[in-house]
Amino acid sequence: MQGVTVVDHPLVQHKLTIMRKKETSTAGFRRLLREISLLLGYEVTRNLELTTTTIETPIEEMEAPTLEGKKLVFASVLRAGNGLLEGLLDLVPAARVAHIGLYRDHETLEAIEYFFKAPSDLADRLVIVVDPMLATANSAIAAIDKLKGRGATNIRFLCLLAAPEGIERFTKAHPDVPIFTASIDRQLNDKGYIMPGLGDAGDRMYGTK
Ligand code: URA
Repeated sequence: MQGVTVVDHPLVQHKLTIMRKKETSTAGFRRLLREISLLLGYEVTRNLELTTTTIETPIEEMEAPTLEGKKLVFASVLRAGNGLLEGLLDLVPAARVAHIGLYRDHETLEAIEYFFKAPSDLADRLVIVVDPMLATANSAIAAIDKLKGRGATNIRFLCLLAAPEGIERFTKAHPDVPIFTASIDRQLNDKGYIMPGLGDAGDRMYGTK
């Protein structure tokens, strides 16, 4: 599975519009991000492999579907990734979690790593990397470089908004990693922000600036 999936569900699109509005409060933004992450999570996990297990209902025995393989990993690119992570953990409470601390150098827009903690057996797991904004793609590419360096081979990337420039750079660097997003916006501005976008996702989520 490769390429870009735009999750065009009407609820996703409606919630995204409210999140984009500059007057939406921090509390509102955070609540909507959590809600939207449930809907995006539904799509990004849609084709997880199933196996069956024998169970007994109060009526009779049956072969019931259950997720196959090791628990999946959500890899959150700090700090904005945590906004998507929380809702995803509601959907898949047994998932493992990786944290990747990267910040953007405001001059060069390069991603600088300051933290990395992940389960040791990444090679055996599906890893879903989450970061709301795929802008220059520097952070996403660096995060996935690191995860691959630690053995991950089965990776998906989930974001809220993507810029065409970011998608192009990302797919060149990691053609094997499918992208799931709620929207592909017009372009990046000269500061690396997505237009029309929603501003700085971390600031909007945490009320900083
Ligand atoms: N990161 C953000 O939070 N917003 C953008 O528009 C680009 C990168």
